[in-house]
This record gives sequence, structure tokens and C-alpha cells, in this order.
Amino acid sequence: MDFSLTEEHIIIQDTARDFAQNELLPGVIERDENQHFPDALVKKMGELGFMGIMVDPKYGGSGMDTISYVLIMEELSKVDASASVIVSVNNSLVSYGIEAYGNDMQKQKYLTKLATGEFVGAFCLSEPEAGSDATSQKTSAIDKGDYYLLNGTKNWITNGGRADVYLVISQTDKEKGSHGINAFILEKGMEGFHIGPKENKLGIRGSDTHTLQFNDVKVPKENRIGEDGFGFRFAMKTLSGGRIGIASQALGIAQGAYELALKYSKERKTFGTEISNHQSIAFKLADMYTDISAARHLVMKAAWDKDQGNNYDISSATAKLYASKVAMEHTVEAVQIHGGNGFVKDYHVERLMRDAKITQIYEGTSEIQKIVISRSILRD
Ligand code: CAA
Repeated sequence: MDFSLTEEHIIIQDTARDFAQNELLPGVIERDENQHFPDALVKKMGELGFMGIMVDPKYGGSGMDTISYVLIMEELSKVDASASVIVSVNNSLVSYGIEAYGNDMQKQKYLTKLATGEFVGAFCLSEPEAGSDATSQKTSAIDKGDYYLLNGTKNWITNGGRADVYLVISQTDKEKGSHGINAFILEKGMEGFHIGPKENKLGIRGSDTHTLQFNDVKVPKENRIGEDGFGFRFAMKTLSGGRIGIASQALGIAQGAYELALKYSKERKTFGTEISNHQSIAFKLADMYTDISAARHLVMKAAWDKDQGNNYDISSATAKLYASKVAMEHTVEAVQIHGGNGFVKDYHVERLMRDAKITQIYEGTSEIQKIVISRSILRD
């Protein structure tokens, strides 16, 4: 067992940290306040190779491993979780989904542009009545010979208004249940494909979340991913990797809040001394450090499982469940350590606290992760 990072990993981590501190940090409060999607920064992240971290260089990607992905996600998320979710969805849901299960035409046409950041991707599974209960898809895709006719609504779609490529999960044959579901690649601008209103959110406000509407959208058959009926398994397999991304986002949010709290505790004085000298604060910092370290080990284990070719359904669910809990609990503590200043936007911790909440909800709520984990341990 070797816990050390390679030289390459350290360089990647430093690059992501520099980018986050120098490029993401300066405008992060304004983007949060005004719900501004970071278009120019997404372009820069594409140039740095962050939009196609694990994609094979033959498709324009960076060809890095999942450990590198986690390291980049943590650094970005310490500063701007809105930017990091754009990276996560583009990498581990859309690019990975097409690279692992798409055909060569789909890879040439879409993956090459997603991997460089020229295109942004969105993953469309959730519906008004099919969030956690993902097999209850109402969006229908009727087989019409050489195309499918898509009708329905998707909601809470990350990158919903800004994406160029949308992976859309829909029901082709209701009788077959989860085996009657397909996944399709849609492009923005297809006739009948409407982008609905943008959500006004509690957190990750710089990311772009929309409802999408499909009214008789004709999707060419060649845009289906995998064989007929593969869509639900496609979504589940892809989400297992996505959960590593969100777990690392949660880890970064927690680490970012911890670093701010640690620094603040050494500067702020009460009762004649720095607040870090009060045991009530020092113990909070000790708990944060311990829990964040444990979360990091779970996140790295899940990434390592994926890189080794092991099954990572349970390790990704475990990492997401725990890291998101740690992020939520310790961002609240970071606000507490900051006292009144913690309630003020300039100190960043209140934003990290708001951003933490979504990590317990998207790509499978904490309750869904417990379903995945408990079914797996009870089956084994
Ligand atoms: N790999 C392969 N196959 C899988 C699988 C996996 N990880 N998980 C399930 N399957 C298969 C099952 O084996 C089963 O196949 P058989 O019928 O042949 O046995 C089939 O899929 C149906 O599975 P279940 O019976 O387990 O289905 P279920 O209805 O009980 O639901 C669930 C399982 C785990 C709860 C699932 O519905 C789920 O993960 N829900 C949460 C959905 C989710 O994460 N949504 C997030 C939205 S995306 C997002 O947030 C992106 C974003 O923008 C940030």
C-alpha cells in the first residue's frame, strides 16, 4: 500500500491550485451573487485540460487517471464549487459516458469537442417525478424507424442552458421497465428542444441549472448510446463515476472551509488571545482535520478502484455519502468559528456552507447512496 502521490500528480495538483487561487477566486463572490456562469473560465479550464481529464488523448483529452481528476476537483472546489460541478458533469458523466459506451462516430463527433472544452455537456436523467426513483422515466422515446421521437421534461439539469451536448435518458418501452430505457445524445438547437427557465438556487449559483422540454424532437437512431434498452444501466454505471466527482467536490468544499477557519482562528483575538488558543475552537479544528482526512481516504480509494478496473459502485457511494456529510457539518462549523464575520459574504465560508448542501442531493441523495451501499453489503 502506497499513500504517496506521484510527481505528476503533485504538478497537476499545483496547476489546479494556482488556477483556482489566481483565476477562480477573484470573481467568485460576484458570480455567486449574480448567478453568472463562468464562460471565460470554462474556456481556460479547457485549455488546461480540465474538461477532458481522463479522456484518451486520441480524442483530445488529457489522458490522466482518476486520482488526477480527484486532485483537480478538490482544488477547484476549495474555491468555487460552481466551476467544479461544470468540470465534474462534463468529465465523469458526459465525456466518460460517451467514451466508455458510445460508438466511434459519437466519439469523433462529440467527445473530441467535449474533451477540449469547446463543447460543454449536460446529463439529463432527473424528471419532475423521477429524481431518486430514476426508473420511473416519463420522457418517452418512440422508435420511428430511423429516428426516435422524444417527448417529455427534464429538470434540475446542470449546464442546462449552456451545454452544447445533452445525454438524455428516456423510456422507449414501458412494459420492459428499466430494460426499456435508452440514452440519447441530443444537440442544442434540435427542433422541438426547448430550454426552460433557469433555477434560482441556494448554492452553486454560478452553475447553470434549467428545466428542459422536448416536444416531438426527432433524434437520429445513430445518436442512441449502446444497444436498445441499455439506457438505465448506462445511467447507473456513469453515475458511479460521477459520484467520485461529487465526493471530491464535497471534499474540496470541506477543505476550503477548514483552511479558512484555521487561518482565521490564528488571527482573530478574543479574551486577550488568538481564538485558536481556546480549546473550544482548537477541538473543532481537530475534528475537521480528522473527518476531512477520512473523507479524503474514501475518495482516493474510490478513484483508485476505478483506475484499477475494480468495481467502484460501493466505494463511490461510500465516498460521496461520507464526504458530503463532512462538507455539510464542517462548513457550518467554519461559519461558527468565524462568528459574525462568517455570516458575511466577504469571508467565503457562508458560500461554502450553501454550496455544501447540494453534494448531499445531486447524483444520488445520501439516502440513495445508503440504498446502493446496503444492497451491496447485504448481497455479498
Ligand atoms: N450497474 C449496472 N446495472 C445496474 C446498476 C449499476 N450500478 N444499478 C442498477 N443496475 C441494474 C440492476 O441490476 C437492474 O437490472 P436487472 O433488472 O437486470 O436486475 C436494473 O438496473 C434496475 O435496478 P434496480 O432494480 O436496482 O432499480 P431501482 O428502481 O431499485 O433503483 C437506484 C436503483 C439505485 C435507487 C437508482 O434509481 C438510483 O441510483 N437513483 C438515483 C438517481 C440519481 O443518482 N440521480 C441523479 C441525477 S443526475 C445528476 O444529478 C447530474 C447533475 O446534473 C449533477
